[in-house]
Amino acid sequence: MGKPQVPISVTDLKFSIEDIEDFLSGPVNPKFQTPYVPKLWKTKDGDEVIIREAKKEEAEAMLQTLKQLIDHKYDRDFYHLVGVRTYSEILAWAQNRIKDSYVIVVTSPDGERQSIVNHRFWDDNVAISLHTITFKRKSNLGIMAYASKIEHAFDFVGVNEWWATFESPFGFRMGFRYVHTTKPWPQVQHELGGSRVYYIDRETWNNVVKPKLKERNLFGERPVSEEVLKKTYPLKPTEKLEVEI
Ligand SMILES: CC(C)(COP(=O)(O)OP(=O)(O)OC[C@H]1O[C@@H](n2cnc3c(N)ncnc32)[C@H](O)[C@@H]1OP(=O)(O)O)[C@@H](O)C(=O)NCCC(=O)NCCS
Repeated sequence: MGKPQVPISVTDLKFSIEDIEDFLSGPVNPKFQTPYVPKLWKTKDGDEVIIREAKKEEAEAMLQTLKQLIDHKYDRDFYHLVGVRTYSEILAWAQNRIKDSYVIVVTSPDGERQSIVNHRFWDDNVAISLHTITFKRKSNLGIMAYASKIEHAFDFVGVNEWWATFESPFGFRMGFRYVHTTKPWPQVQHELGGSRVYYIDRETWNNVVKPKLKERNLFGERPVSEEVLKKTYPLKPTEKLEVEI
């Protein structure tokens, strides 16, 4: 047992950390990192926000805010649970420990972050919704940001299905409003805790969800000028958490 059937010239082999890293991180598929073209949108309160892709070097600013939510005092509307899970996903993304993840942020014109959404690509066919979290409530930011990541998956990358699950009633309501239906459960389970997969396909996105978003003014507008976009860098952590309603 454990002894090769032919003589081996050495008793030990060394592996470099860099060789090991290739096994641990997996190759990046550039298709899944197709850049999201930024958008402008006005919140329910009339504030202008910019929706744009996040860069890995901005992870620290995101983690700073999320870290505050990792506390029992945020056990309301599932902010604690979603905060801790999003924290781990952003850290894993920055440190190359999650497959083909993509992160979008919503910022104020001076780059203060108000919302984070992330997803990842299972393969060319399926995108997995991870989390949607907003730090300023009652302005429809969350539901608009959630739609932006669906748009990235269908219209920029070209998947055929969007697989979500929801931890909170407010999250579930987003799926309900965007006509998500279920896969058979428990035969098909979502990677976030094995709960139900709520999904939409490309046809529903194009024929139902996207028109509804536009009609309800939840889609946003392009283009965003270079000058406006530039001011959103560097990303600033959210100054004040406004997560209670
Ligand atoms: C889920 C989430 C992203 C939704 O964000 P959102 O769509 O911007 O909605 P909010 O959380 O701000 O809730 C606003 C809603 O609260 C309700 N509400 C209750 N009291 C209210 C008040 N005094 N004023 C305004 N709205 C009120 C309304 O129904 C309103 O929605 P509507 O105007 O669209 O009808 C956000 O709640 C969040 O980040 N939650 C924590 C994390 C989470 O649960 N994520 C989803 C799991 S994957």
